[in-house]
Parts: sequence; structure tokens; C-alpha cells
Amino acid sequence: MAEPLTHTHSLARLLRRATQRLRPRRAGAARGGDPWWKHSVIYEIYLRSFQDSDGDGVGDLGGVVQRLDYLESLGVDAIWITPLYPSPQADFGYDISDYRAIDPQFGTLADFDRLILETAKRGIRVLLDMVLNHTSEQHPWFVEAARSRNSPHHGFYVWSDGRTDADGRRLPPNNWVSLFGGSAWEYVPAVDQFYYHKYYRQQPDLNWRNPEVERAMFGAMRFWLRRGVAGFRLDAITALFEDEQLRDEPALGGTNEHGDPNLRHIYTDNLPDTHRVIRRLRAMIDTYPGRRVLVGETYLPSTADLDAWYGGARHNELHLPMDTLVGLGSTLDAPTFRQRLMEAATEIHDSQPLLVFDNHDRPRSWDRYGDGVHDEQIARIIATLLLTSRAAVLLYQGEEIGQRTNPPKRVEDVRDPMGISGWPRLKGRDGERTPMQWDAGPQAGFSTSHHPWLPVAAGYERINVQSETADAGSMLNWHRHLIAMRRSYAALRSGLMVMLDPDNPSVLSYARVAEDGAAMVVALNMSATPQTLTVDLAAAGVACRHFATLLSSPPGITSVAAGGSVTLPPYAAWVAAVHTHDPNGADEPSGHG
Ligand code: GLC
Repeated sequence: MAEPLTHTHSLARLLRRATQRLRPRRAGAARGGDPWWKHSVIYEIYLRSFQDSDGDGVGDLGGVVQRLDYLESLGVDAIWITPLYPSPQADFGYDISDYRAIDPQFGTLADFDRLILETAKRGIRVLLDMVLNHTSEQHPWFVEAARSRNSPHHGFYVWSDGRTDADGRRLPPNNWVSLFGGSAWEYVPAVDQFYYHKYYRQQPDLNWRNPEVERAMFGAMRFWLRRGVAGFRLDAITALFEDEQLRDEPALGGTNEHGDPNLRHIYTDNLPDTHRVIRRLRAMIDTYPGRRVLVGETYLPSTADLDAWYGGARHNELHLPMDTLVGLGSTLDAPTFRQRLMEAATEIHDSQPLLVFDNHDRPRSWDRYGDGVHDEQIARIIATLLLTSRAAVLLYQGEEIGQRTNPPKRVEDVRDPMGISGWPRLKGRDGERTPMQWDAGPQAGFSTSHHPWLPVAAGYERINVQSETADAGSMLNWHRHLIAMRRSYAALRSGLMVMLDPDNPSVLSYARVAEDGAAMVVALNMSATPQTLTVDLAAAGVACRHFATLLSSPPGITSVAAGGSVTLPPYAAWVAAVHTHDPNGADEPSGHG
């Protein structure tokens, strides 16, 4: 085990040295003043399932360190690690009982410092998941708050006396429902009050109208910023505030997947008050050197709503609220993607979009978009779209190897509480959280335990990092190529995105054009029939002599002269460099940066 780093200063010095050493060879790093995160690939590590280093069947920080060389070779700029703090694990870490420590099953603070050092050596930054909306019911604040109304921390949470019916029964104050099922209110006899919980009962919501809460939570963030984290992924950030009057939410008719009434969440989500806190948070994080970043978990109904989370024209709130509108659907439809990408380019006041298709809360995109016949090609289309748009990118562990969703088969195997209460209609989120598949050995190389906390998915003998590294045509190598291209072609990294053939119902195609006019073309056939297109770059204002294929799925889509046509097989993905006439007589692929 490495020596613990106890002095913040020495850690900062080491970090500085480590990052400086690496800067020159990181072509994709900030250029021309762009902050590092602007065109970054951020890799989500679901800590429990990434790599177990001590044989207890649960992933840990030592495991992450073991796999850093892999992440470096993949070319990611940063990792986001799901909650690593002490927690009863009722929601697998999203119920935090101490914001300034590491859960012993994941390691120690010394392991964390070691991770910061080892990542810095490889030019990789670390983002932590920060849960500001709620704590664990076992957090000392809540334990105390639930004991007496006079406790100093009672006001840290959202309490209500509720109502009493004709028979003297205590009822919650309103119709608010938990996102995870049932009433959002839980009665505590000791204080004769209900507390509000947007998520599980074990996750009481913090009261952000209390300035003490802000002080305490900002203090926790400072603790980690001083330890060298590059920023935070802010969990459930749109839910910080609730209506002060606790008014009923309007019913929309029908019931949701939990069997609760569908409500319009106008009093529990996306409340204007939140933005004041976010602006203060942004001001706070901006005082730290190194361009730290705030990523937001922002499920929002429209791109216009997303804009507000950047701070609109002021750009003074989140750096990268997640754009869940482009990627979290399930229909592979060219006009819809085109429309969403255009909105992301034009409706957010020149802020930087952050695209996400997969995470630990959704069935994997492979299974959402796949048609059961062309799944592999469709997965390559998704990867190409994700990595060739102008946006920063979130990649979820396993996405790069084509890992499948593996939902539990029997209720006794379910670990996510919502899957237990909702069985068999709801199976919970275990399916997208199964262990990372490293090799074809026992437990896919994830753990030496015979009983990992979730079972390894079937098919891991073929779908794993080791086998796919050796196979030039694998999903993993498709991702590697795309990430490498983002780094080496300025057009692909930071160029403008110009939609081509905007009325085509089947093929999504666009040009990426760098400041110097260098360009690339991407065409994605989102249909089950071959499509022939003539790429016309007039709209993009780009001179072109021919298109040189850089990547194609299926292989064999050939280069073509300007004006010629390209035939894309069903669900094909094609990325080509635009060659312009060179006055010296040689054609150079344009766009190298
Ligand atoms: C976020 C997390 C999810 C968690 C919830 C409550 O949505 O991604 O896993 O259950 O917040 O913290």
C-alpha cells in the first residue's frame, strides 16, 4: 500500500508535477484557451462493479487504480466515480452517512489520495458524485433530527405536521410521491411529524432553505476540492427545493410504473430557487485553480429548460448539465436525433452540451436501441454519434465493449430495492450494474470472490476487454478509434457541426468544420435498408475533392470523389476526412490538429 499523503500542499505539488509532465502529449487537452472539460470524454465508474481488489465481491478504489492503464489507453480525460462515502448502501452509496470519508468497503482516504496521484500521472482527472439533495437516514444529522424537534439539526430536513383525518389518523400533508414509489412522506413518532424523501425512505431530503445546510454541504465539497478532485457530478440536482406551501401537485391521469398517480412535478422539481444555490456553488468552485467542473444530473423536459441550468447567457451555473434529451430515448430515428442535436447547438447560448446515452440507472443503450438483428451495428452508430458530435461525452463503464443489460431472473436475486418492491413488473436497476467484464476468466476478472455482489452477465467470455483488445474489429476498438480521432482531428474535436441533407428521414449526416476550414463528414444510416447519398458540402461552405474513409461499419464503405454517391448498408456508420485541393499537388486529409 502506498504511503498516505497527509499534507494537502505536498499532494497539490505532486499533482501539479504529474499533470505538467503529461500535458505535452495530450493532444485532446485544452487548446486555444478551451477548458479541459469542453471536449472531454468522461468515463463513469460504477464503483461497486468496476474492479474488486480485495476479494469481497464489491469493487473498490484499489481496483480502480489497477485499471487506470486501461482507462489511459482508452483515452478518457476524466473519471466520474459513483458515491464512495460511508453509507448504509440502501441506495448503493446514494445514501451518504458521512460526506468527508471513504466507506471502508471501498478503501481509505489514503487509497483515495493514491488514486488522485495515479490518475494525475496518466493525465486523467477525477470527478466525485456529490449527493446534495438528501442524506442517509443514518447520517448523524438525521438521527439527531428525528429524535427531537429541538435538535440543532432538525431544521436540516423537510418536515411537516401533516393532516389528521376524521378518525384521528395521521396523513401526509399532500399528494407528493417518491420517484421510487409510494408517498414521499414518512411519519416519525418521536417528533410526531413527517419528513419528505424524493427517493427511498432511507434518503431524507435536505432543507436547502436553511443556510446551515448550504454551509455544511459546500464545506464537504471544499474538503474534496482541496484533496484534488477536478469537480463533481451533482446528483438529483434539479430536486433541491420543494414548494414552501407544500401544495398538491396536479394529477395527469393514470399511474406510473410504481402504480402511483402520474403527477406534474411543478412543486418538487426544477424550482427557480435552486438556481441561486447553483450560482453560489459555481462562484465557489471557480475560486479553485485548474478549471474544476460541475456536471449536473439534469433530466429535463426540453432544451430550453436545460439552458437555464447553464445560467443561460450568463454562463454562471453548471458547466455541463447532462443533455439527457439526445441520448436517453430508445428510438433510432434520424429526424429526432437531428432535431435534438440542432437544439443542443443553438438553444443553449453557446454553452457546451454534454451527451449521455448510458448510465447506472437505465437499461444499456445496446438493449434500448437494438432491434435484435442489427444490435452490433446499431451500437456502433450510437458510439459514433456520441463521439463525433461537438459535445463533451459521458461514457458508462462497459458501454465501450458492448456490455449488455442483465436483469435479474428471480426476485430473490434482486438487489435494487425498487426491483424487490416492484417485482415482477419492475426489475430495478441491477441489470445495468453488473460487473465490468475484463476477461474470459472466472467472474470476468472482476473479483476473486465466487459471489460478486451482482452476477457477471452471460456472454462475458466473448464480450470483455481482453478479447476485444485483441480483435481489431471489436466494439472496444471502434470506441478507441473514435476517441483517438477526436484527439487528433481538430474538426472532430471542436469544429462547428453543420447538418447535411436535413430532410433525409433515414440518414443522419453532418459535417464538422474546423476554424481553418478543415472538415470531416459523418453519415449514420438509421434504417434497415441501404441508403445512397451524395454528400454535398456546399451548405457547410467547405471545398472538397474527395472523401477518404477513416472508419466504416460494416467495413468496406469506400472513399468517394466529390459529387459521387456513397451507399450505406443497413445501419451503417461512416466517418470520412474531407480532402481539399492542395496547391502543391498533393492531397492532404484535412483536419489534423
Ligand atoms: C440519481 C442516481 C441514482 C440514485 C438517485 C438518488 O438519480 O443516479 O442512482 O438512486 O439519484 O440519489
